[in-house]
Amino acid sequence: MTGSRIIGTGSALPRQIVTNADLAQRVDTSDEWIVARTGIRQRHIAQADETTATLATAAARAALDDAGVEASSIDLIVLATATPDNTFPATATKVQHALGCNGGIAFDVAAVCSGFLYALSVADSLLKTGMAKRALVIGAETFSRILDWDDRTTCVLFGDGAGAVVLDAPAAGDAGKDTPGILGTRLHADGAQHDLLYVDGGPSTTQTVGHVRMKGPEVFRHAVVNLAEVLREVIEDAGISVADIDWVVPHQANARILDATARKLGISPDKVVVTVHAHANTSAASVPLALDTARKDGRIKAGDLVMLEAMGGGFTWGASLIRM
Ligand code: COA
Repeated sequence: MTGSRIIGTGSALPRQIVTNADLAQRVDTSDEWIVARTGIRQRHIAQADETTATLATAAARAALDDAGVEASSIDLIVLATATPDNTFPATATKVQHALGCNGGIAFDVAAVCSGFLYALSVADSLLKTGMAKRALVIGAETFSRILDWDDRTTCVLFGDGAGAVVLDAPAAGDAGKDTPGILGTRLHADGAQHDLLYVDGGPSTTQTVGHVRMKGPEVFRHAVVNLAEVLREVIEDAGISVADIDWVVPHQANARILDATARKLGISPDKVVVTVHAHANTSAASVPLALDTARKDGRIKAGDLVMLEAMGGGFTWGASLIRM
């Protein structure tokens, strides 16, 4: 059975841009080091009036406009975030209210940087069962609020933002690889790797929000291996070859991870959408932000075969193949 169809995309970024030079005034780092090790040149950082919910709502509105559908037609909102506005209720319910589409299903998914792929898969599954007809799937983060701004090994890597897609239930009778829709998804998790990337706080442990802690070089090594493996799984499931893929839209953590993964699979770098230089790592927002960027600048077109992939804390990772 063909999966649900993406009928619109949107994104939103905080107003304030923080450059590497700006960060070098705060911690012992330099534009040269950050660009050489990560490819990041700047990131957007939310100000007090910008929250995960406001960014998510703006991205969702842009996706609804792009799809040409009303908010009232949405009966499912799945929002991926590791930085919710509040511990509860789910940020998705705030977005639902802000959009004026109360009444359907709304909840958050926590899978950190893989969150959007998890959310997309959950929404696709609910749409296939008939529980809902039209979904908003959103990745939104204000990671700046959980960064230790004195830790140069993490604070230079992340940014804030949101991306969203409108997802329609598969039309009856859809079939085949050329029909628009989600063609296949694989998700994984490995809780044994918790200590390599985590937040050292939370309501049930420290009663504080906590800060991001990461063993960067070890995360790097796992990321390249896990991502190459999951990409191979999805390619094999779908019965396609690497050459059939028009675009890879990866989680934007680090330009070197993107290069190394593409090299391992023999994917041409020209087919990899890269936005990390402008947005840094926006966690759950990064895949839908990059997807929207590449659609709006004309790279990704209707009919293209697009592979989404991500890996994040947990570890969690996954990939999804989509006919646009
Ligand atoms: N500015 C300047 N120097 C820095 C720095 C910074 N912002 N951060 C670390 N350094 C220093 C280190 O202290 C170390 O110094 P030392 O050799 O004197 O001890 C040196 O740079 C090399 O550090 P290392 O951590 O080995 O660098 P690296 O090449 O592995 O790059 C990362 C670090 C974090 C960029 C890289 O490991 C990475 O991208 N990892 C994956 C992280 C990621 O994507 N996580 C999210 C996944 S969802």
